[in-house]
Amino acid sequence: MEYNKIKNADKIISKSPYLIVNPTNYKNKWKELFGNNNPINIELGMGRGEFIIKMAQANPKINYIGIELVDSQMVKAVDRLSNLNLPNLKLINMDARDLDQVFGKEIDTIYLTFSEPWPKKIDEKKRFTHISYLKLYDKIFKKHKHIILKTDNKGLFAYSLETLSQYWYTFERVSLDLHHNEIPIPNIMTDFEKRYYEEGRPIYYLDARFDE
Ligand SMILES: C[S@@+](CC[C@H](N)C(=O)[O-])C[C@H]1O[C@@H](n2cnc3c(N)ncnc32)[C@H](O)[C@@H]1O
Repeated sequence: MEYNKIKNADKIISKSPYLIVNPTNYKNKWKELFGNNNPINIELGMGRGEFIIKMAQANPKINYIGIELVDSQMVKAVDRLSNLNLPNLKLINMDARDLDQVFGKEIDTIYLTFSEPWPKKIDEKKRFTHISYLKLYDKIFKKHKHIILKTDNKGLFAYSLETLSQYWYTFERVSLDLHHNEIPIPNIMTDFEKRYYEEGRPIYYLDARFDE
């Protein structure tokens, strides 16, 4: 997907106290950076940051790290954070495929929110639930693995159910229409989700776990 480029986005985000400029320096040391032993949850492709900021506000005893490839996308998040004081939130401008250079076995939950679906077979490896990503996540999860995925894309959802179950994840909850689920699922909307919700599109949801 093409995103609007913002001039000097790299400089704008680098001024934010939330941005971790040399994240590899903190590998195996994130709890020292946060100054506590609380769980660390990450969102891959956080975009403009609505979800991760609201999650950090709602859950001060959980640490959050928003990961995003495109600096222009992060400008809005940095702007939203300018008047907030959230010691439990950090942002990293990086490619998710390098996660193991930044984290040791330190992560509790990974959020995959409206990730690019990469519908062409040739791009399958870029999907965040491709087996190569599931293997990558093994390197950064603590003992238990926990993935929460939300998407409007039926193809990506079906694909993810398949790859996760082939990789021995089990599903705590699955919904084909998150916002109209019979038993409500606690939820904070992302920027993309708000748009799709207003258009009346169903949101697919899964909560997958692997406990040894
Ligand atoms: C469709 S947007 C969703 C943004 C946000 N999660 C939401 O729901 O509003 C997908 C985001 O993932 C980011 N992204 C795509 N590939 C990535 C990668 N390999 N590493 C990190 N971020 C990535 C894109 O730049 C984009 O901001």
